[in-house]
Amino acid sequence: MSRFEVRKAVIPAAGLGTRFLPATKASPKEMLPLVDKPLIQYAVEEAVASGIEDIIIITGRGKRAIEDHFDRSVELEENLKGSGKAQLLSQIRHISTLANFCYVRQSEALGLGHAVLCAQRLIGDEPFAVILGDEIIDAPVPGLAQLIHAYKKRHGAVLGLQEVPHHDVSRYGIVASRTIAAGLHRVEGLIEKPAPAEAPSNLAVIGRYVLPPEIFPILRKTQPGKNGEIQLTDALRELAKKSPMYGLEIQGQRYDAGDKLGFLIATIEFALKNPSLGPDFGDYLQNRMRPSGERRTTRSRKA
Ligand code: UTP
Repeated sequence: MSRFEVRKAVIPAAGLGTRFLPATKASPKEMLPLVDKPLIQYAVEEAVASGIEDIIIITGRGKRAIEDHFDRSVELEENLKGSGKAQLLSQIRHISTLANFCYVRQSEALGLGHAVLCAQRLIGDEPFAVILGDEIIDAPVPGLAQLIHAYKKRHGAVLGLQEVPHHDVSRYGIVASRTIAAGLHRVEGLIEKPAPAEAPSNLAVIGRYVLPPEIFPILRKTQPGKNGEIQLTDALRELAKKSPMYGLEIQGQRYDAGDKLGFLIATIEFALKNPSLGPDFGDYLQNRMRPSGERRTTRSRKA
C-alpha cells in the first residue's frame, strides 16, 4: 500500500448542535433526516464512494442513535422479511455493511480540533480524511474524492474550499492563499470566523479535509481559541507553517444543513430530485407559490 493511500475517515459528531435547538436537545443533529436518510449517512456514503474503508465517528452523550443506525437491527429485519418488504429489507441491511465503523467518545465538546484528536490512536501514522456531516455536498464526483485525488498528486494536506459571499465570511474558516492551478490554491494562512474587514479572501473551508498524521502533535499543543474551543483551524495554521498545504475548490453544490435555513433548502432540493417524491412535491410547491385565491385544493395522501 502506498503511504499516500487514504483509507480512514473521521466524522466528528459530538457537537452540541446549538443552531438547531430545541430539536437537538436530546437527539443528535447528525440524525436529522434529509428526505429519508439521516445527514450522517450522506457523509458515510460520500466517504465510501471516495474509497474510504474505515470510518471513525466521534460521538458524545445523547448520540447513541448514530451507533444504532449503522448497526444491524435484527427485529426490524425479521419484521420486514415476514411482511415481504424485500426492497426495504435490503436497504436497511446495506446500511450496516457500508464500511467498518468505530466509535470514540469525546467526553466534553471541547471543539472540532479536540474531536479530531480523539481519533489519533485509531488513525495511527497515516493520512486520513475528515468529513463534517452537517455540510452536505451534492456532486457528480464526491467532494472527498476530489480532495483525495489532489492529495495523491501533491502529498500535502488538502482542504475543501468554496467561495462564499463576502458578508458571510464570519461564519467560516477563511484561507489566505495563492492560486497555483485552476481551482487549486497553496494555503499560506487561515483565520477562523474573521470579521469581513479582516478576511484575507472569501475562500471558505467547507468541511472536507485530507490531513497527514503530523496534525496530531500540533493539535495536542493547540490552546483553546475562539469560543474557548480547540479549533482545527488554529492547528491547520501551524501545520501550514511546517509543510505544504493546499486548498481545492470543490465542484458541487454545498448545503449547510447544520443551520435551520440551510437544512430547509437542502430538504427542498433533495426532495425535488427524489424520483418517487419529486414530481408530486414539485406540483405542491408550484401550487403553494400561487396567490392564495388561485391555489388548487390539495389533499395529503398516503404513499
Ligand atoms: P459545528 O460548530 O458545526 O457543530 O461543528 P455543533 O457545535 O454541533 O453545532 P452548533 O454550531 O452548536 O450549532 C462542526 C462539526 O464538529 C463537530 C460537530 O458535531 C460538527 O459535526 N464537533 C464540534 C465535535 O465533534 N466536537 C466538538 O467539540 C465540536
